[in-house]
Amino acid sequence: MESKYFNYSNIKWGAMFNTQTRKAIKWLLPGAMALMFGMSSNAFAVPADPVKTELLDKGKQVYYKRCVWCHGVEGGGDGPAADRLFTRPRNFIQGTFKIRFTDSGELPREQDLIDTVKNGLPGSAMPAWGEFLKEDEIIAVVQFVKTLVQDRDFNDADEEVAIQDFGSNPWNTTGPHHLGIPQEAIDQGKEVFLKNKCFECHGGEGRGDGNPTMKDDWGFPIVAADWQQCWNFRGSRRDPYNPFNIVRTVSTGLNGTPMPNFKDQITVEDRWKLAAFVNSLCPRKNIDKLTNKPVPDFLISSEYTEGKVAETIDDPMWQSTDHDPKFIPRSEETKDNPRWNYIAMAGQITRGKRNFDPKVDNLWVASRWSAEDNAVYYLLEYHLRFLSTNPEYPDAVAMQWPAHLQDLFGAEKPYFIFGDSKKPVDVWQANFLAKDYNPTAPPKPDGYQLDVKVHEYNGNGFDALKDKETAPTVQVVDSIFKQGRVKVLIKRSLQTENKETDVQIPSEQFIPVSFMQWAGQDKEKDEHMAISTWYYTILKPALPQSLYYMPPIMAVVFFTFQGWLVWMTKRTRKMYDEGKVKRDIIPK
Ligand code: HEC
Ligand code: HEC
Repeated sequence: MESKYFNYSNIKWGAMFNTQTRKAIKWLLPGAMALMFGMSSNAFAVPADPVKTELLDKGKQVYYKRCVWCHGVEGGGDGPAADRLFTRPRNFIQGTFKIRFTDSGELPREQDLIDTVKNGLPGSAMPAWGEFLKEDEIIAVVQFVKTLVQDRDFNDADEEVAIQDFGSNPWNTTGPHHLGIPQEAIDQGKEVFLKNKCFECHGGEGRGDGNPTMKDDWGFPIVAADWQQCWNFRGSRRDPYNPFNIVRTVSTGLNGTPMPNFKDQITVEDRWKLAAFVNSLCPRKNIDKLTNKPVPDFLISSEYTEGKVAETIDDPMWQSTDHDPKFIPRSEETKDNPRWNYIAMAGQITRGKRNFDPKVDNLWVASRWSAEDNAVYYLLEYHLRFLSTNPEYPDAVAMQWPAHLQDLFGAEKPYFIFGDSKKPVDVWQANFLAKDYNPTAPPKPDGYQLDVKVHEYNGNGFDALKDKETAPTVQVVDSIFKQGRVKVLIKRSLQTENKETDVQIPSEQFIPVSFMQWAGQDKEKDEHMAISTWYYTILKPALPQSLYYMPPIMAVVFFTFQGWLVWMTKRTRKMYDEGKVKRDIIPK
């Protein structure tokens, strides 16, 4: 049978049966299935947490002040902001909640809802209310949310929930979790991943690129989570590297989504190993407490490169991990390679066609430059599950520079979207479609070559973006789309002929630079895009920095050492003179 995702506990009880039948099936089916397959479950059933009616007045007030904009007057997930959001705000009416300790299809515990409201659902518009509301307000609004559920009843004594068995962290890690988890457990977790075919939805490298055709229970398109961006896990609870969160998801599934539970397929011990594996894929970065995302790396250092820079992405010269070296040290081979800088991307929502749900919220940049080549290289990389196949809406990524660096004083920068009348910008845009690409075909192990066209623009403001008429100066020397990740290697000479429109790039100077990105599959185009704020880049000096500060340090060390030598000699002589040292221990 077509059973790879079939799980009896995933059946939507509410939608399919009336209450009586629902209850009967609920009691009989697990027993019958357990008999059939000889399985048992360690979960224990308790009644759902009833509504605390005395808190409802207060909860209602909080709801209509804070939540109604997204979740709607009756909790139908249809507030005024709803249409602009992907993922859409939850419709509470069916009682479908993703992040729970309870079994698939069941209501959540009260504590699950409190934790969700407090920590938010990262990767969606649902804010972490712990920042804005007091604990008692959160508890109260959760009571009110429970009363918005119409198809189920938290007060019904028969509405039981089975708290799942999560075991406990076998390595006793409390964070940073990568330090205490042995590689062996991670490797075994990978076996569990392969055996249970998580890749069918999550992709071979876990970037969520396995299946482009999924829908949620309300008929809206949904994609599998990108494991390499664990900070966007809905249930990450502001602790994205904690394997517990993954054990919970795998044990309970996510109601309302195609994500099933695996409690009968995977033992609790194996779920922890699986979680360790999933967790190991997520780059270790400093996570910002407010945004729940990595702290951006605001300075992109371009490494000076002896000789020529390799013009292929696969070259060892470009290999390095996106882990912050502060958390996971680099390997011997990659330690001098440029670092991956994390750039935060957000929808452009100030002018024109706004973008409230950009497909891409991440961009990673590494850079090298070469005096011999007189050129600078930027390797841009971002996660995107599926590319466009429509030539009218190609995918695209761009870098934006101030066109006249010499006219900027201090920290001055042009307006961040296409500059302004006084401060023009130079925009390099790579437009591309993948060759022979079909998002629903099985993934190609080597990935897809990109058919790239480079556009260079001059910007003097939002409505004043012009194609440059001068000869092209920017090249894309290599590019690929593979397993849910785009990589584009851009090359540009440091100086160009046309000083009026092209940025002239000096070394050893902080230069503002920003990024833009368009997801063609979502029909993003022109100002309907994702943007970053201004970052800085600097072409690092030709000599390793150590050569600059080492001579003075050596001088200090040398003089100190000399002083010490003189002092020692004097002291020894004095001791000798005073007869404290016998003559024969002083070397002749
Ligand atoms: C800016 C929009 C927005 C506001 C305001 C908002 N939410 Fe949400 N909320 C969402 C979105 C979007 C989701 C669905 C995310 C998903 O399904 O991944 C959600 C989901 C939820 C869920 C479901 C959790 C689960 O486990 O499935 C609860 C409960 C919730 N919100 C409560 C609240 C409460 C209480 C407030 C007010 C204090 C609130 N929300 C305000 C956007 C919002
Ligand atoms: C049928 C497709 C499917 C399969 C198979 C599947 N997943 Fe998922 N998974 C999803 C979807 C869809 C989501 C995202 C749901 C959402 O956005 O709310 C998801 C989300 C997740 C998340 C993120 C949870 C969070 O807090 O947001 C984790 C972790 C996860 N899956 C792990 C796994 C593991 C491990 C396996 C294999 C044992 C697996 N999944 C198999 C579809 C699947």
